[in-house]
Amino acid sequence: MTDQTLRVTVTRQEPGEEPRDETFDVPFDDRTSVLDALDWIKDHSAPSLTFRWSCRSGVCGSCGVMVNGRPVLGCETTVAGYRTSGLTVGPMAHATVQRDLAVDTDEFLAKLRGVSPWMLPTPPVLQPAGAPGPHPSPDAESQDPSAVPSLDVLAVHSQTPGQVEAYRGLSQCIDCMLCYAACPVLDDVAGFTGPAAVATARRWDLDSRDDGNETRFLALAENEEGIWPCTQVGACTRACPKGVDPAKAIRDYQREALG
Ligand code: SF4
Ligand code: FES
Repeated sequence: MTDQTLRVTVTRQEPGEEPRDETFDVPFDDRTSVLDALDWIKDHSAPSLTFRWSCRSGVCGSCGVMVNGRPVLGCETTVAGYRTSGLTVGPMAHATVQRDLAVDTDEFLAKLRGVSPWMLPTPPVLQPAGAPGPHPSPDAESQDPSAVPSLDVLAVHSQTPGQVEAYRGLSQCIDCMLCYAACPVLDDVAGFTGPAAVATARRWDLDSRDDGNETRFLALAENEEGIWPCTQVGACTRACPKGVDPAKAIRDYQREALG
């Protein structure tokens, strides 16, 4: 960092208390990230400042904060662009503050779990007892014919490049909650499933190995707070740091449900 400094205001909050702003003059250069600035504040001025991070590389999704009212990844956002406006860092919207910039993610994760965000596999392909399988061992002929039928792993998991491409974009989600914080619908409809969960549901629906479409469709379309509150403002898609398009995922479900 250089001897230039930037005025950084951080919203701080103790459990059970009202939020308050504290301002710090933080040295920076062109590469200083919001997360670097928070580290500097913690190391030099406010040791109790609480915030989350892990990978520092835009991968883990844990460092989301609001910067001047917009959700961003702290590790991927440089502060230099804010040298004239100054910088206010607050906790992610639509989540309860635990302390300072650390928020409770339980509600977000519960909504995610509600759409079964994992593979619900097609019925397993069983090989006859004693079959050599896709990679027969040299002594295949001597296999016990009374052996229990085995799962044909390759038959279940093989995909063509085109099948992978169908869900690749949606699979980039890192559950960072930025879209959830950006969504204006959640200001008014707290129970709305939210963009990340719908995008993840869609990711699995588009996966040729998965057979859970009906389960997820029921969870989203038969629930008035599933996909229906979305008015297609698109703030979620603009906020996503990984290029996921949750607004389209929601739109696709809405169209399917309307026939
Ligand atoms: S869709 Fe994008 S913004 Fe939303 S949780 Fe996933 S990575 Fe984050
Ligand atoms: S610290 Fe992991 S995404 Fe920012």
